[in-house]
Amino acid sequence: MNLVSYKTQSLHGEVVCPGDKSVSQRIIIIGSLLNCDMQVNGFLNAHDPISTANALNAIGASISINGTEVILKKRQNLFNNSKHDLNLGNSGTGSRLLLGLISGLGLKSTIIGDKSLQKRPMSRVIEPLKMMGAKLNSNKGKLPINTLGSKILDDFEYEMPIASAQVKSCLLLAALASKKNIKVIEPKITRDHTERMIEFFGGNIFYGANKIPRVIELKNSELQPKNSFNVPGDFSSAAFIIVATIISKDSEVLIKNVGLNESRKGLIEVLVLMGANLEIRNQRKVSNEIVGDIYVKSSELNGIDVSDDIIPNIIDEIPILSIAACFAKGKTVIKNADELRVKESDRLHAISEGLIKLKIKHKIFDDGISIIGTSEQIECSESIDSFDDHRIAMSFLVSGIRSKNSVRVSNCENIETSFPNFTHIMNTIGMRINEED
Ligand code: S3P
Repeated sequence: MNLVSYKTQSLHGEVVCPGDKSVSQRIIIIGSLLNCDMQVNGFLNAHDPISTANALNAIGASISINGTEVILKKRQNLFNNSKHDLNLGNSGTGSRLLLGLISGLGLKSTIIGDKSLQKRPMSRVIEPLKMMGAKLNSNKGKLPINTLGSKILDDFEYEMPIASAQVKSCLLLAALASKKNIKVIEPKITRDHTERMIEFFGGNIFYGANKIPRVIELKNSELQPKNSFNVPGDFSSAAFIIVATIISKDSEVLIKNVGLNESRKGLIEVLVLMGANLEIRNQRKVSNEIVGDIYVKSSELNGIDVSDDIIPNIIDEIPILSIAACFAKGKTVIKNADELRVKESDRLHAISEGLIKLKIKHKIFDDGISIIGTSEQIECSESIDSFDDHRIAMSFLVSGIRSKNSVRVSNCENIETSFPNFTHIMNTIGMRINEED
Protein backbone atom coordinates (compact mmCIF):
# COMPACT_ATOMS: atom_id res chain seq x y z
CA MET A 1 0.00 0.00 0.00
CA ASN A 2 1.31 3.43 -0.96
CA LEU A 3 0.25 6.55 0.95
CA VAL A 4 0.45 10.15 -0.17
CA SER A 5 0.69 13.01 2.31
CA TYR A 6 -0.27 16.42 0.92
CA LYS A 7 0.95 19.86 1.95
CA THR A 8 -1.00 20.99 5.01
CA GLN A 9 -1.81 24.42 6.44
CA SER A 10 -2.34 23.98 10.15
CA LEU A 11 -3.22 21.26 12.66
CA HIS A 12 -5.77 21.57 15.44
CA GLY A 13 -7.67 19.40 17.86
CA GLU A 14 -7.63 16.89 20.63
CA VAL A 15 -6.73 13.23 20.14
CA VAL A 16 -6.45 10.20 22.39
CA CYS A 17 -3.15 8.41 22.06
CA PRO A 18 -3.37 4.69 21.08
CA GLY A 19 -2.11 2.09 23.58
CA ASP A 20 1.58 1.53 24.24
CA LYS A 21 3.06 -1.34 22.24
CA SER A 22 5.76 -2.25 24.76
CA VAL A 23 3.32 -2.26 27.68
CA SER A 24 0.59 -4.09 25.72
CA GLN A 25 2.99 -6.93 24.92
CA ARG A 26 4.29 -7.13 28.47
CA ILE A 27 0.90 -7.19 30.16
CA ILE A 28 -0.35 -10.18 28.18
CA ILE A 29 2.90 -12.06 28.85
CA ILE A 30 3.05 -11.29 32.58
CA GLY A 31 -0.74 -11.60 32.86
CA SER A 32 -0.60 -15.11 31.35
CA LEU A 33 2.12 -16.08 33.79
CA LEU A 34 0.00 -14.74 36.66
CA ASN A 35 -2.83 -17.00 35.55
CA CYS A 36 -5.77 -15.02 36.90
CA ASP A 37 -8.93 -13.36 35.63
CA MET A 38 -7.89 -9.89 34.50
CA GLN A 39 -9.22 -7.15 32.26
CA VAL A 40 -6.73 -5.01 30.34
CA ASN A 41 -7.92 -1.62 29.10
CA GLY A 42 -6.32 0.56 26.45
CA PHE A 43 -4.56 -2.40 24.79
CA LEU A 44 -2.89 -1.69 21.45
CA ASN A 45 -4.92 -3.73 19.00
CA ALA A 46 -2.21 -3.88 16.33
CA HIS A 47 -0.29 -6.61 14.54
CA ASP A 48 2.66 -6.86 16.96
CA PRO A 49 0.69 -7.35 20.21
CA ILE A 50 -1.75 -9.63 18.38
CA SER A 51 1.03 -11.94 17.20
CA THR A 52 2.32 -12.09 20.77
CA ALA A 53 -1.20 -12.92 22.03
CA ASN A 54 -1.59 -15.67 19.41
CA ALA A 55 1.75 -17.20 20.40
CA LEU A 56 0.80 -17.10 24.09
CA ASN A 57 -2.55 -18.77 23.36
CA ALA A 58 -0.70 -21.48 21.41
CA ILE A 59 1.27 -22.37 24.58
CA GLY A 60 -1.85 -22.51 26.71
CA ALA A 61 -2.71 -18.93 27.71
CA SER A 62 -6.29 -17.70 27.58
CA ILE A 63 -6.31 -14.24 26.03
CA SER A 64 -9.23 -12.77 24.13
CA ILE A 65 -8.96 -9.40 22.45
CA ASN A 66 -11.99 -7.25 21.82
CA GLY A 67 -10.92 -3.89 20.40
CA THR A 68 -8.78 -2.21 23.04
CA GLU A 69 -10.10 -4.43 25.82
CA VAL A 70 -8.43 -7.73 26.60
CA ILE A 71 -9.72 -10.48 28.86
CA LEU A 72 -7.26 -12.90 30.42
CA LYS A 73 -8.85 -15.96 32.01
CA LYS A 74 -7.61 -18.16 34.81
CA ARG A 75 -7.10 -21.60 33.33
CA GLN A 76 -6.80 -25.11 34.79
CA ASN A 77 -4.08 -26.29 32.45
CA LEU A 78 -0.39 -25.51 32.69
CA PHE A 79 1.48 -23.99 29.77
CA ASN A 80 2.13 -26.53 27.00
CA ASN A 81 4.72 -27.13 24.28
CA SER A 82 3.55 -25.49 21.08
CA LYS A 83 2.15 -27.85 18.46
CA HIS A 84 2.88 -25.45 15.64
CA ASP A 85 5.43 -22.70 14.94
CA LEU A 86 4.95 -19.50 16.91
CA ASN A 87 4.90 -16.73 14.33
CA LEU A 88 5.87 -13.40 15.88
CA GLY A 89 5.49 -11.57 12.56
CA ASN A 90 7.40 -8.28 12.66
CA SER A 91 7.76 -8.10 16.42
CA GLY A 92 11.27 -7.92 17.88
CA THR A 93 9.82 -7.35 21.35
CA GLY A 94 7.34 -10.23 21.09
CA SER A 95 9.94 -12.72 19.88
CA ARG A 96 12.65 -11.77 22.38
CA LEU A 97 10.36 -11.54 25.40
CA LEU A 98 8.64 -14.82 24.55
CA LEU A 99 12.00 -16.53 24.19
CA GLY A 100 12.62 -15.52 27.80
CA LEU A 101 9.23 -16.69 29.02
CA ILE A 102 9.35 -20.00 27.11
CA SER A 103 12.91 -20.74 28.22
CA GLY A 104 11.95 -20.02 31.82
CA LEU A 105 8.95 -22.34 31.54
CA GLY A 106 11.11 -25.05 29.95
CA LEU A 107 8.82 -25.53 26.93
CA LYS A 108 9.56 -26.83 23.46
CA SER A 109 8.71 -24.44 20.65
CA THR A 110 9.80 -23.02 17.32
CA ILE A 111 9.77 -19.26 16.97
CA ILE A 112 9.56 -17.76 13.50
CA GLY A 113 8.92 -14.29 12.08
CA ASP A 114 8.56 -12.26 8.90
CA LYS A 115 11.41 -11.32 6.54
CA SER A 116 12.46 -8.34 8.64
CA LEU A 117 12.41 -10.27 11.94
CA GLN A 118 14.42 -13.11 10.34
CA LYS A 119 17.25 -10.64 9.74
CA ARG A 120 17.37 -9.29 13.29
CA PRO A 121 20.09 -10.37 15.75
CA MET A 122 18.91 -12.89 18.34
CA SER A 123 22.32 -13.86 19.80
CA ARG A 124 21.87 -11.01 22.25
CA VAL A 125 19.17 -13.09 23.96
CA ILE A 126 20.30 -16.60 22.97
CA GLU A 127 23.73 -16.27 24.59
CA PRO A 128 22.59 -15.17 28.07
CA LEU A 129 19.65 -17.62 28.00
CA LYS A 130 22.14 -20.43 27.30
CA MET A 131 24.29 -19.21 30.20
CA MET A 132 21.16 -19.55 32.35
CA GLY A 133 20.86 -23.18 31.25
CA ALA A 134 18.32 -22.94 28.42
CA LYS A 135 18.91 -25.15 25.40
CA LEU A 136 18.16 -23.45 22.10
CA ASN A 137 18.98 -23.95 18.43
CA SER A 138 19.02 -21.05 16.04
CA ASN A 139 19.79 -20.27 12.46
CA LYS A 140 23.26 -18.76 13.13
CA GLY A 141 21.94 -16.41 15.79
CA LYS A 142 18.77 -15.56 13.88
CA LEU A 143 15.23 -16.95 13.60
CA PRO A 144 13.91 -19.60 13.38
CA ILE A 145 14.82 -20.60 16.93
CA ASN A 146 13.91 -23.88 18.59
CA THR A 147 13.63 -23.98 22.36
CA LEU A 148 14.39 -27.54 23.42
CA GLY A 149 12.53 -27.69 26.69
CA SER A 150 15.34 -27.56 29.23
CA LYS A 151 14.93 -26.05 32.68
CA ILE A 152 16.73 -23.04 34.11
CA LEU A 153 18.26 -24.33 37.31
CA ASP A 154 20.28 -21.52 38.87
CA ASP A 155 20.22 -17.88 39.85
CA PHE A 156 21.97 -15.67 37.31
CA GLU A 157 23.92 -12.44 37.10
CA TYR A 158 24.52 -10.74 33.77
CA GLU A 159 26.24 -7.56 32.68
CA MET A 160 24.61 -6.62 29.39
CA PRO A 161 27.09 -5.64 26.65
CA ILE A 162 24.42 -3.59 24.85
CA ALA A 163 21.72 -1.31 26.23
CA SER A 164 18.55 -3.19 25.30
CA ALA A 165 15.21 -3.28 27.11
CA GLN A 166 14.27 -6.36 25.10
CA VAL A 167 17.31 -8.30 26.33
CA LYS A 168 16.80 -7.13 29.91
CA SER A 169 13.10 -8.06 29.80
CA CYS A 170 13.78 -11.43 28.18
CA LEU A 171 16.10 -12.36 31.06
CA LEU A 172 13.78 -11.01 33.76
CA LEU A 173 10.92 -13.07 32.30
CA ALA A 174 13.11 -16.19 32.10
CA ALA A 175 13.93 -15.75 35.80
CA LEU A 176 10.34 -14.96 36.74
CA ALA A 177 8.97 -18.01 34.90
CA SER A 178 11.61 -20.36 36.37
CA LYS A 179 11.30 -18.79 39.85
CA LYS A 180 15.00 -17.96 40.00
CA ASN A 181 16.78 -14.84 41.22
CA ILE A 182 18.45 -12.61 38.68
CA LYS A 183 20.67 -9.55 38.65
CA VAL A 184 21.00 -7.67 35.35
CA ILE A 185 23.35 -4.73 34.89
CA GLU A 186 22.60 -2.36 32.05
CA PRO A 187 25.18 0.03 30.59
CA LYS A 188 22.60 2.77 29.90
CA ILE A 189 19.10 3.38 31.20
CA THR A 190 16.61 1.57 28.97
CA ARG A 191 12.81 1.43 29.21
CA ASP A 192 11.72 -0.10 32.51
CA HIS A 193 8.13 -1.21 31.80
CA THR A 194 8.89 -4.82 32.76
CA GLU A 195 10.32 -3.77 36.12
CA ARG A 196 7.37 -1.46 36.81
CA MET A 197 4.86 -4.15 35.90
CA ILE A 198 6.53 -6.76 38.12
CA GLU A 199 6.48 -4.17 40.92
CA PHE A 200 2.78 -3.38 40.20
CA PHE A 201 1.95 -7.06 40.74
CA GLY A 202 3.84 -7.10 44.05
CA GLY A 203 7.08 -8.70 42.78
CA ASN A 204 10.30 -8.31 44.69
CA ILE A 205 12.25 -6.20 42.20
CA PHE A 206 14.79 -3.42 42.67
CA TYR A 207 15.68 -1.18 39.78
CA GLY A 208 16.72 1.82 41.82
CA ALA A 209 18.56 4.91 40.89
CA ASN A 210 18.82 6.27 37.39
CA LYS A 211 22.57 5.93 37.75
CA ILE A 212 24.59 4.12 35.11
CA PRO A 213 25.42 1.28 35.06
CA ARG A 214 21.98 0.44 36.47
CA VAL A 215 21.48 -2.73 38.49
CA ILE A 216 18.13 -4.53 38.29
CA GLU A 217 17.55 -7.30 40.78
CA LEU A 218 14.62 -9.72 40.98
CA LYS A 219 14.45 -11.96 44.06
CA ASN A 220 12.16 -14.89 44.97
CA SER A 221 9.35 -13.30 43.09
CA GLU A 222 5.79 -14.46 43.55
CA LEU A 223 3.39 -12.09 41.82
CA GLN A 224 -0.05 -11.23 43.17
CA PRO A 225 -3.04 -11.22 40.81
CA LYS A 226 -5.06 -8.06 40.18
CA ASN A 227 -8.30 -7.85 38.29
CA SER A 228 -7.44 -4.95 35.99
CA PHE A 229 -4.59 -3.15 34.27
CA ASN A 230 -4.64 0.07 32.24
CA VAL A 231 -2.19 0.47 29.37
CA PRO A 232 -0.94 4.06 28.89
CA GLY A 233 -0.92 5.68 25.45
CA ASP A 234 2.18 5.09 23.36
CA PHE A 235 4.65 7.98 23.54
CA SER A 236 6.29 6.64 20.37
CA SER A 237 2.99 7.09 18.49
CA ALA A 238 2.38 10.49 20.11
CA ALA A 239 5.81 11.50 18.76
CA PHE A 240 4.44 11.64 15.19
CA ILE A 241 1.61 13.94 16.29
CA ILE A 242 4.02 16.11 18.31
CA VAL A 243 6.45 16.67 15.44
CA ALA A 244 3.63 17.10 12.89
CA THR A 245 2.19 19.92 15.03
CA ILE A 246 5.56 21.55 15.69
CA ILE A 247 6.46 21.77 12.00
CA SER A 248 3.00 23.04 10.94
CA LYS A 249 2.13 26.73 10.95
CA ASP A 250 -0.36 28.21 13.49
CA SER A 251 -1.12 24.84 15.04
CA GLU A 252 -2.05 23.52 18.47
CA VAL A 253 -2.95 19.97 19.45
CA LEU A 254 -3.71 18.24 22.74
CA ILE A 255 -2.71 14.56 22.90
CA LYS A 256 -4.46 12.84 25.77
CA ASN A 257 -3.38 9.89 27.87
CA VAL A 258 0.24 9.60 26.78
CA GLY A 259 2.69 7.37 28.68
CA LEU A 260 5.41 9.64 30.08
CA ASN A 261 7.77 7.06 31.56
CA GLU A 262 11.17 8.74 32.13
CA SER A 263 12.89 6.12 29.99
CA ARG A 264 10.58 6.80 27.02
CA LYS A 265 10.01 10.54 26.82
CA GLY A 266 13.55 11.61 25.88
CA LEU A 267 12.19 13.17 22.68
CA ILE A 268 10.43 15.86 24.76
CA GLU A 269 13.76 16.82 26.32
CA VAL A 270 15.45 16.96 22.92
CA LEU A 271 12.64 18.94 21.27
CA VAL A 272 12.49 21.44 24.15
CA LEU A 273 16.25 21.98 23.81
CA MET A 274 15.62 22.62 20.10
CA GLY A 275 13.02 25.26 21.03
CA ALA A 276 9.72 23.34 20.94
CA ASN A 277 6.65 24.81 22.50
CA LEU A 278 5.06 22.04 24.51
CA GLU A 279 3.59 21.45 27.91
CA ILE A 280 2.66 18.42 30.01
CA ARG A 281 -0.76 18.60 31.65
CA ASN A 282 -2.74 16.43 34.02
CA GLN A 283 0.18 14.18 34.98
CA ARG A 284 -0.84 11.13 37.03
CA LYS A 285 0.13 7.51 37.81
CA VAL A 286 -1.82 4.67 36.19
CA SER A 287 -0.91 1.00 36.76
CA ASN A 288 2.55 2.08 37.97
CA GLU A 289 3.29 4.17 34.87
CA ILE A 290 3.31 7.98 34.62
CA VAL A 291 0.66 9.26 32.21
CA GLY A 292 -0.29 12.78 31.12
CA ASP A 293 -1.59 14.93 28.29
CA ILE A 294 0.77 16.74 25.93
CA TYR A 295 -0.19 20.17 24.64
CA VAL A 296 1.95 21.14 21.67
CA LYS A 297 2.10 24.18 19.40
CA SER A 298 3.88 25.20 16.19
CA SER A 299 7.49 26.01 16.99
CA GLU A 300 10.65 27.36 15.39
CA LEU A 301 13.33 24.74 16.04
CA ASN A 302 17.12 25.04 16.17
CA GLY A 303 19.46 22.16 15.39
CA ILE A 304 21.40 20.63 18.30
CA ASP A 305 23.97 17.95 19.13
CA VAL A 306 21.89 15.20 20.73
CA SER A 307 23.57 13.82 23.86
CA ASP A 308 24.76 10.18 23.79
CA ASP A 309 23.15 9.18 27.08
CA ILE A 310 19.66 9.94 25.89
CA ILE A 311 19.89 7.73 22.78
CA PRO A 312 18.27 4.57 24.31
CA ASN A 313 15.37 6.78 25.46
CA ILE A 314 14.72 8.19 21.98
CA ILE A 315 15.77 5.15 19.95
CA ASP A 316 12.34 4.59 18.35
CA GLU A 317 11.83 8.33 17.82
CA ILE A 318 15.00 9.03 15.83
CA PRO A 319 13.21 8.66 12.46
CA ILE A 320 10.64 11.33 13.38
CA LEU A 321 13.30 13.45 15.14
CA SER A 322 15.14 13.43 11.79
CA ILE A 323 12.05 14.98 10.19
CA ALA A 324 11.96 17.67 12.90
CA ALA A 325 15.67 18.28 12.16
CA CYS A 326 14.86 18.82 8.45
CA PHE A 327 12.93 21.96 9.41
CA ALA A 328 15.20 23.20 12.22
CA LYS A 329 17.61 26.08 11.77
CA GLY A 330 21.16 24.75 11.48
CA LYS A 331 22.59 21.31 12.07
CA THR A 332 21.29 18.46 14.23
CA VAL A 333 23.78 15.70 15.06
CA ILE A 334 22.83 12.24 16.33
CA LYS A 335 25.65 9.78 17.19
CA ASN A 336 26.09 6.58 19.17
CA ALA A 337 22.89 5.21 17.69
CA ASP A 338 24.25 2.13 15.91
CA GLU A 339 21.33 0.07 17.31
CA LEU A 340 19.28 1.79 14.58
CA ARG A 341 21.06 -0.49 12.10
CA VAL A 342 19.25 -3.56 13.53
CA LYS A 343 15.69 -2.34 14.01
CA GLU A 344 12.74 -3.24 11.75
CA SER A 345 14.98 -1.89 8.96
CA ASP A 346 18.46 -0.40 8.93
CA ARG A 347 16.94 2.87 10.03
CA LEU A 348 20.03 5.03 9.43
CA HIS A 349 20.10 3.86 5.83
CA ALA A 350 16.31 4.21 5.45
CA ILE A 351 16.33 7.76 6.87
CA SER A 352 19.22 8.75 4.61
CA GLU A 353 17.54 7.31 1.50
CA GLY A 354 14.37 9.27 2.30
CA LEU A 355 16.29 12.49 2.97
CA ILE A 356 18.02 12.12 -0.42
CA LYS A 357 14.56 12.09 -2.05
CA LEU A 358 13.56 15.17 0.01
CA LYS A 359 16.85 16.85 -1.09
CA ILE A 360 17.78 17.51 2.54
CA LYS A 361 21.51 17.93 3.17
CA HIS A 362 22.76 15.31 5.57
CA LYS A 363 25.69 13.03 6.36
CA ILE A 364 25.37 9.47 7.49
CA PHE A 365 27.88 7.84 9.90
CA ASP A 366 28.25 4.24 11.03
CA ASP A 367 26.42 5.14 14.23
CA GLY A 368 24.39 8.22 13.42
CA ILE A 369 23.43 11.05 11.13
CA SER A 370 23.77 14.82 10.87
CA ILE A 371 21.05 16.83 9.19
CA ILE A 372 20.99 20.43 8.00
CA GLY A 373 17.53 21.94 8.20
CA THR A 374 15.77 24.13 5.67
CA SER A 375 13.15 26.85 5.90
CA GLU A 376 12.08 26.18 2.30
CA GLN A 377 9.23 23.90 1.32
CA ILE A 378 10.54 20.47 0.37
CA GLU A 379 10.08 19.20 -3.12
CA CYS A 380 9.80 15.49 -3.63
CA SER A 381 9.02 14.02 -7.00
CA GLU A 382 10.16 10.44 -6.33
CA SER A 383 8.45 7.94 -4.08
CA ILE A 384 10.10 7.31 -0.68
CA ASP A 385 10.62 3.69 0.34
CA SER A 386 9.50 2.78 3.86
CA PHE A 387 11.76 -0.29 3.75
CA ASP A 388 8.72 -2.08 5.23
CA ASP A 389 9.31 -0.18 8.46
CA HIS A 390 6.32 1.42 10.21
CA ARG A 391 8.26 4.25 11.81
CA ILE A 392 10.05 5.17 8.58
CA ALA A 393 6.70 5.23 6.74
CA MET A 394 4.98 7.44 9.33
CA SER A 395 7.95 9.80 9.67
CA PHE A 396 8.18 10.59 5.96
CA LEU A 397 4.40 10.96 5.72
CA VAL A 398 4.69 13.68 8.40
CA SER A 399 7.27 15.49 6.24
CA GLY A 400 4.54 15.95 3.59
CA ILE A 401 3.15 18.80 5.72
CA ARG A 402 6.05 21.03 4.63
CA SER A 403 6.15 19.89 0.99
CA LYS A 404 5.40 22.01 -2.09
CA ASN A 405 2.77 19.49 -3.13
CA SER A 406 3.01 16.08 -1.52
CA VAL A 407 5.25 13.24 -0.34
CA ARG A 408 4.51 9.71 -1.50
CA VAL A 409 5.64 6.78 0.64
CA SER A 410 5.57 3.22 -0.67
CA ASN A 411 5.00 -0.04 1.26
CA CYS A 412 3.11 1.42 4.20
CA GLU A 413 1.36 -1.82 5.31
CA ASN A 414 3.60 -2.12 8.36
CA ILE A 415 2.06 0.95 9.98
CA GLU A 416 -0.42 -1.68 11.19
CA THR A 417 2.22 -3.18 13.48
CA SER A 418 2.11 -0.22 15.88
CA PHE A 419 -0.38 2.51 14.91
CA PRO A 420 -3.33 1.10 12.95
CA ASN A 421 -5.39 4.31 12.98
CA PHE A 422 -2.44 6.59 12.12
CA THR A 423 -3.96 7.96 8.91
CA HIS A 424 -7.33 8.56 10.55
CA ILE A 425 -5.89 10.34 13.61
CA MET A 426 -3.53 12.50 11.55
CA ASN A 427 -6.33 13.45 9.16
CA THR A 428 -8.65 14.28 12.09
CA ILE A 429 -6.25 17.00 13.23
CA GLY A 430 -5.83 18.39 9.70
CA MET A 431 -3.26 16.37 7.79
CA ARG A 432 -4.22 15.03 4.37
CA ILE A 433 -2.95 11.50 3.95
CA ASN A 434 -4.63 9.35 1.32
CA GLU A 435 -4.15 5.89 -0.03
CA GLU A 436 -2.94 6.04 -3.61
CA ASP A 437 -5.54 4.84 -6.13
C1 S3P B 1 11.38 -2.27 23.09
C2 S3P B 1 12.68 -1.94 23.28
C3 S3P B 1 13.48 -1.19 22.32
C4 S3P B 1 12.65 -0.57 21.20
C5 S3P B 1 11.56 -1.48 20.73
C6 S3P B 1 10.65 -1.88 21.87
C7 S3P B 1 10.68 -3.00 24.15
O1 S3P B 1 14.44 -2.06 21.78
O2 S3P B 1 13.46 -0.17 20.13
O3 S3P B 1 10.78 -0.84 19.74
O4 S3P B 1 9.44 -3.08 24.13
O5 S3P B 1 11.37 -3.51 25.04
P1 S3P B 1 15.80 -2.39 22.56
O6 S3P B 1 15.82 -3.82 22.87
O7 S3P B 1 16.88 -1.98 21.64
O8 S3P B 1 15.81 -1.62 23.84
